[in-house]
Amino acid sequence: MLSLLEAASITKSFAGVHALKGVTFELRPGEVHAVVGENGAGKSTLIKIMTGAETADSGTLAVGGRTVPHMDPASARALGIAAVYQQPSLFPHLTVAENLAFSIEGGGVWRRVDWPARRRTAVTLLERVGASIDPERLVETLSMPEQQIVEIAKTIGADARVLIMDEPTASLTDHEVHNLFASIARLRSEGVGIIYISHRLEEVFAIADRVTVLRDGHTIATRPAGEIDRAALIRLMVGRELAAVFPKQTVTPGGVALEVRHLSNRGAGLRDVSLSVHQGEILGVAGLVGSGRTELAETLFGLTPADEGVILLRGAPVRIASPAEAIRLGIAYVPEDRRQHGVVLDMSIAANVSLGNLGAVARRGLIDRVAERDAAQRYVDQLRIKTPSVSVGVGALSGGNQQKVALARWLSIQPRVLILDEPTQGVDVGSKSEIHALMQTLVERGVAIIMISSELPEILGMSDRIAVMQRGTVRGVLARHEATQDTILALALGHVPPDASGRH
Ligand SMILES: Nc1ncnc2c1ncn2[C@@H]1O[C@H](COP(=O)(O)OP(=O)(O)OP(=O)(O)O)[C@@H](O)[C@H]1O
Ligand SMILES: [Mg+2]
Repeated sequence: MLSLLEAASITKSFAGVHALKGVTFELRPGEVHAVVGENGAGKSTLIKIMTGAETADSGTLAVGGRTVPHMDPASARALGIAAVYQQPSLFPHLTVAENLAFSIEGGGVWRRVDWPARRRTAVTLLERVGASIDPERLVETLSMPEQQIVEIAKTIGADARVLIMDEPTASLTDHEVHNLFASIARLRSEGVGIIYISHRLEEVFAIADRVTVLRDGHTIATRPAGEIDRAALIRLMVGRELAAVFPKQTVTPGGVALEVRHLSNRGAGLRDVSLSVHQGEILGVAGLVGSGRTELAETLFGLTPADEGVILLRGAPVRIASPAEAIRLGIAYVPEDRRQHGVVLDMSIAANVSLGNLGAVARRGLIDRVAERDAAQRYVDQLRIKTPSVSVGVGALSGGNQQKVALARWLSIQPRVLILDEPTQGVDVGSKSEIHALMQTLVERGVAIIMISSELPEILGMSDRIAVMQRGTVRGVLARHEATQDTILALALGHVPPDASGRH
């Protein structure tokens, strides 16, 4: 069968890091071809070479059987290759409709803009992916998951023959993923070839026809998805056996660490939120995209202070008007959008980790560089951050490894209440269990953890109790033993009357 896209013996180095060491990959028309591998395996680098965003050091690329000697973004687009990158690439100061139009409309700058048509196109594209986002909103006002959905709509609208998606669902919930998969199935039946990168292996098994495993810059194997099981796939990815998936052990909870009563934040769309989390407890927060989970975290961390209700820390009412106050009170927050708020890309790993905790590494006002490096090295080992050294700039790390640095930065302040927004998003299976084990160690030390997650297996696997949010409020709180996919989803979709499960 003629292949749509073929990469042969591709190599690529960045300043001494061999990201790709002879990768071979083939995409056929009408197939969903998943690419999996640990953080730093080379997946994003490979797709950047296919879209001309990066140039290979050696190797060949062929599209529709013809070699492309110099792939650049313009020729990739002309050849019908479109991509959703791991990091959002929308223009923040333009509206959703403008961003969508930009990728689709031809013509130069002086072309007359047909505004109503542009709006209609935007509405159609957003509907196709099942999103209810106002096309007139500025992209900078969208949450991460909303931006992801717009990116997806944009790429789908580009009429591509090759569609590349690098972790498109990282922050989407099952509901949105379902819509995306319906779009993918339609494109696939039209003969479009889809390259799908994901750390969520259940997705890979749900939609992929074939899977290619990359490890350490090498192609390890390409297999039909129907002929390999999860355990075998993980073995190919990590080259070793993995420990238990969720190392959950129940810790006898201590006193209430943090409680909120009737909290509202009109600007952020939160209303009448009541919940509590105990020392030594993991409170999972579930809900659909836009249900207010991240807004709740931002309110508790003082980024968008509440305008009604009370927050109690160990029983005492507090006002949290800024992140500095939250940190002083022992609250840490690892945000979902780690590129914007989580790490400083042009600083080293060591400097990023010590940002959270200058007290511990600074003596008499001077930063102790040795202590700083040692502390960072501990996290690099513990979280398996793939890097030649702790002095490497965070911007040079792969997406998943940047996430781990963000986590290390906030863990190093040794918080009493730790709010994690999608703690394992974009993190490979091996590192996922390291992060879960680390969370387990923290609760054993009495830390209270509020964990927002879109992955139900993670919510069910790690939480002691689960608060389910819908439309800016907590619909119900489930104990670990009463929580199932179904009970959570019923609350998340608002199918349960509030009085039937209004316990907090
Ligand atoms: N611009 C860059 N400068 C230096 N090193 C880089 C750069 N981009 C990637 N690398 C390195 O190349 C390797 C492969 O990175 P890549 O982003 O392709 O991994 P990945 O498989 O996409 O991982 P993830 O699952 O974390 O997204 C990593 O070691 C990374 O640190
Ligand atoms: Mg990547």
